Amino acid sequence: MRRGKLLYAQSGGVTAVINATAAAVIETARAHGVKVYAARNGILGALREDLIDTSRETRATIAALDHTPGGAFGSCRYKLKSPEENPAEYKRLMDVLRAHDIRGFLYNGGNDSADTALKLSRLGREYGHELTCIGVPKTVDNDLTITDCCPGFGSVARYTALSVREASLDVASMSETSTKVFILEVMGRHAGWIAAAAGLAGEEADAPPHVILFPERSFEPEAFLARVKATVKRVGYCTVVASEGIRDAAGRLLSDTGTRDAFGHAQLGGVAPMLAQLVKERLDLKVHWAVPDYLQRSARHAASATDLAQAQAVGKAAVEYALKGMNAVMPVIVRERDAPYRWSIAPAPLARVANREKKMPARFLRRDGFGITSAARRYLAPLIHGEAAAPLGRDGLPVHAKLKMIAVGRKLPPWKAG
Ligand code: F6P
Repeated sequence: MRRGKLLYAQSGGVTAVINATAAAVIETARAHGVKVYAARNGILGALREDLIDTSRETRATIAALDHTPGGAFGSCRYKLKSPEENPAEYKRLMDVLRAHDIRGFLYNGGNDSADTALKLSRLGREYGHELTCIGVPKTVDNDLTITDCCPGFGSVARYTALSVREASLDVASMSETSTKVFILEVMGRHAGWIAAAAGLAGEEADAPPHVILFPERSFEPEAFLARVKATVKRVGYCTVVASEGIRDAAGRLLSDTGTRDAFGHAQLGGVAPMLAQLVKERLDLKVHWAVPDYLQRSARHAASATDLAQAQAVGKAAVEYALKGMNAVMPVIVRERDAPYRWSIAPAPLARVANREKKMPARFLRRDGFGITSAARRYLAPLIHGEAAAPLGRDGLPVHAKLKMIAVGRKLPPWKAG
């Protein structure tokens, strides 16, 4: 990369460790004597020339990002049209980058964000502004291709496995006279990785979760009810984990709320109460259900140390790649061994990640469709390893970073969305 600044932005659904990636980006760039600006609310901040000067933050504040969930600089779901459809938007981005002598753009997101970074990576030469674009992986959904796993996933996986184990102990205690079924709904949109991670809660026969519902298998109400009924009869209670993305035999999402984001993705949520109703009506059993929703992807208190280390590693590698001028790549996680778990970071072309989705492979799903295989366990188990404790404040709660968020002076007229 030609000398200049880096621009870092967060995009899409945030995670418990995305800020650890941000910290690694800022710290690595500082060590190389390179300034990092952060765009407020993802690519929107770049369009609006709403940039934050991270060099005005203290080392201690940046370090505290390691244990601060959410997206410290703000995130967005905003789809750039293609350069042919909306050239003005790309021109504006290039004007902002040029005005601030930004030579490297690091976009921290999922497959949609990889697409945005890829589109931009192709424009430097055309606009006469040499630019290196790097996609930095992040998503709780774990659905990016090429990378072995996605930063953010290990922590939501750990939260889910922990919660299933703990809540199941609760239900088991109540089950003789009260609650017989507990249903937990987890995120993951079209891929069942988070639901699968619930399977790490127990391995022996009849250990919870007893039923996992994956988006990769169509939901059959009768088979589901029969399984719940038999489990309650045999075990005394039944823990169910349902992915928010489960579909009926016709391929319709059970929990489509009707709301769409900029990419056309449906907002999902509400499978657990639907299933609870079904169990109550058809089996006449007492049910409790929970939708942890944002609690799961912000659960930094339950984060995995492995996930945290990987989130930091992709941030560091992203800066190194940018400084080497490696345009249109993403640092991905390469699994070298399952046990003991060994991983490394390598560059992958953004074109092989953008807009693609990695679902659970069939060999990870048990033949009956209600659980995970030992191959899935081998894949998932190392990702939740290690406790990534955060320092506690005087109030007994974790200390979170409080950024000053000092804005960079504007050099251009305000942006008018076209
Ligand atoms: O980005 C992944 C994700 O957490 C999905 O699992 C979930 O369906 C979605 O984001 C929710 O998005 P939003 O926060 O924009 O409603």
